[in-house]
Amino acid sequence: MSNESALNMIESSKSIQPPQSYREKSYVPSVEKYMDAYEKSILHPEQFWNHLADELVWHERKETAISGQMPDFAFFPGSQLNVCENCVDRHAKNAATRNKVALFFEGENHERKAVTYLQLYDEVQKFANVLTSLGLQKGDVVSVYMQNLIETYVVLLACFRTGIIYNTVFAGFSPEALRERIVSSNAKAVICSNGSLRRGKALKLKETVDEALKGVDSVDHVVVYNRLPSLETPMTPGRDLDYDELMAKQRPDFPPVALDANDPGLLIFTSGTSGKPKGIVHAGGGFLLGTYAYTKYQLDIRPEDVYWNTADIGWLTSHIFVLVGGLALGVTTILYEGAIDYPVAGRLYEVIERYRVNKLFSAPTAYRMMMKHGEEVISKYDLSSLELLVSVGEPLNPEAWHWIRRVVGQGKVLINNTWGQTETGGTPLASLPGATPMKPGSCGVPFFGHQLEVVDAKGNPVADGTPGYLVIKNAFPSLARDVYGDRPRYLRSYFSQVPGTYFTGDSAVRDQDGQFWVLGRVDDVINVSGHRISTMEMESSLIQHPAVVEAAVVGQPDEVKGAVPIAFATLEKGYTPSPELEDSLRQQIVRDIGSFARPEKVYFVEAMPKTRSGKIIRRMLREIIRDGQVSGDVTGLEDLDIVDKLVADITKETAG
Ligand code: PRX
Repeated sequence: MSNESALNMIESSKSIQPPQSYREKSYVPSVEKYMDAYEKSILHPEQFWNHLADELVWHERKETAISGQMPDFAFFPGSQLNVCENCVDRHAKNAATRNKVALFFEGENHERKAVTYLQLYDEVQKFANVLTSLGLQKGDVVSVYMQNLIETYVVLLACFRTGIIYNTVFAGFSPEALRERIVSSNAKAVICSNGSLRRGKALKLKETVDEALKGVDSVDHVVVYNRLPSLETPMTPGRDLDYDELMAKQRPDFPPVALDANDPGLLIFTSGTSGKPKGIVHAGGGFLLGTYAYTKYQLDIRPEDVYWNTADIGWLTSHIFVLVGGLALGVTTILYEGAIDYPVAGRLYEVIERYRVNKLFSAPTAYRMMMKHGEEVISKYDLSSLELLVSVGEPLNPEAWHWIRRVVGQGKVLINNTWGQTETGGTPLASLPGATPMKPGSCGVPFFGHQLEVVDAKGNPVADGTPGYLVIKNAFPSLARDVYGDRPRYLRSYFSQVPGTYFTGDSAVRDQDGQFWVLGRVDDVINVSGHRISTMEMESSLIQHPAVVEAAVVGQPDEVKGAVPIAFATLEKGYTPSPELEDSLRQQIVRDIGSFARPEKVYFVEAMPKTRSGKIIRRMLREIIRDGQVSGDVTGLEDLDIVDKLVADITKETAG
C-alpha cells in the first residue's frame, strides 16, 4: 500500500468501543485505567515487572529487576527460575487445575488426543530424562523438526526443564534450509516426527532430516516420533532412536533445573536483510516474563477460556502465546495439525464449534482465506462461543477486519490486531481488548513498559499522522538477546540505526489518538502468508542456478497472501527464456528454502535497473509490476534506457 492510501485509511477509520459486558471481565476495563497504568509502567518499569514476576515461581529472586541498557541489558540478573516449572509444574501440583486439559490435539484427519496438566507433567519429566540419557546437557542445542503435536510440546518443555536450548525449524523448510539451521546452531541432536499430514498428503519429515544430515557430523542422535505409523521410516542404526521406546524406559522424576533468568532458552531462525537467516536467541526467563504479560493482558486470558492459536510451532507466535505465555497462564488450548480448510472449507469453524473456542488467534492470510471461502460455509456452524479474534504477522486490512467481525464474529466479537516480531518475542503493540477502542487496520497501543516511537532517518520523532521508522526506546524482557554466534550482526541489525534504540525495520504512523499503524518493512524482507522471507535469501538461491547471471526478488501485493514473491533474472549466454526454465528456477527456490517461498512468476529480463554504484533498484521492479511503469525518481539510474526495456520485457511476458 502506498503511504498516501495508508494515510487515507487512517484518517477515515472510526473507533469502536469494547462492549460493557466484555469490559467487566477484562483485566484492564477502561482506556483511563490503561493510560494510568501505562504511564506508571514507563516511569517505574522495575515496579511493573516486579509485580508480574510475583505471579511466577522462582528458585531465587534478587532485588534488581532491570540492569544495563540496550543492547547490553538483563532482566532479573542473578535470579533463578525454570520456564517449564512455570508452565507445567505449578498447574500440575495444584489440586484445582491438575486434571484440567492443557492441550487438545486435533489432527487434520480428525484424530484426537488430549493431555491434562498432570499428564503433561509426567511426560515432560520422562522426556527430560531421555534428553539427558543421550548425553545432552544445559547449553547444548537441539533442532526440532515437528508439526503441531502434543509430543512437540513435550519435547520443547523438556528442553526448558533441562536448560537445553531448542531450535524449532518450520517443518515446511527444505532439507537445505534445515541443514543450514542445524549447522549454524551447532545442534547435537535432531528431534522430528516421521511425517505430518497436510491437505490429505503425508509429508515425510524424517526423509527430509536424513537428507539434511548428509555430510553433517555434529549430530549424534535423531529421535523420531512416529506420528504416522503406516509411513515407512528408514532408521539409521546407532543414530536414530524411537521416541516411544525411549519414553517407555524413563520415569517421571526429573526436577526442573534452576536457571538464570537471562540464560539462553530458545533459538529461532528468521530472515534478515542478507542472504543468511539469523538465529535469534531469546533468554528463557525473559521470554517467560514477557510472554506471560502479553498473553495475560492482550488476550485477557481467564481460567475458563478455550483458546486456539492456529500458528504452527515452527513460528515464534505459538511459543509466545501458547507454549510459554499460554501454559504459564494455565490455559486450555488446541493444537491443530494441517490445513485449516481441509478436508472441508469449514474445518476451522468445525473445530471452533466442537471445543466451544472463545478466543481465536490466527493470521491475516488465514482470515482472508476464510473470506474467500465465503459466508455460506459458515452458516452450518455454531460460532456463538467466540468473544475475541486476534491477529498477528502482517497488516490486517480493514476489509478483512470488518468481514471477520461481521461474519465470523456475528458482529459482536472483539478484534485485536497485534504487532510483533520474532525478535521482540511478543507483541509490543496491540489493543487491550476491554480498554482501548478498536480501529480497523490499526495495531493498537504500546504495551505496558514499552516505549515505541515513530522517528525520521536521524532518529528524531516525527509528528503524529506522519510515516516514519518504528523504534523501541527501552529494553523489555522478551527482546532478543543475540544473533546466535554473531554478536556483531545483532548490534548492526538492530542497534546501529538509532544508537541506544531498537530498530524494528518497519515503517509506521502514530495517529492523533496514540494508536499505531504499521505500514510494512523498510528493508528487503517480504511477508508471504505470514512467512517472513528475505528477498536476498531467494536471490542467493537463484544465482546458484547455472542459467542465472543476476536475480532480483520483490513482493507483489496479493489479496489472500498479503504478498507473493516475483523474481527477475538475467540469463547466461546460451540460455533462452522458456516455461521449463522458469519452472526450474522456481524449483531451485523450493529446494533451497521451501515451497512456501515459490515465486509466483519469474520474469526473464535483459538487464536490471541499477544505481551508478551497481545496486539493483528493486523499487523500480515493484513499480513496473504494479503500474506497468516507473513513476518515482529515475535520475539515479546507471542506464536511463533500461526502464523502457524492462517495461517491454515484462509486459511482453505478462501478455504472453
Ligand atoms: O513487518 C512486520 C510484520 O511482520 C514482521 C515480523 O514478522 P515475524 O518475525 O515473522 O513475526 C512474528 C510475529 C511474532 C514485522 O516486522 N507484522 C507483524 N504483525 C503485523 C505486521 N505488519 C503489520 N501489522 C501487523 N499486525
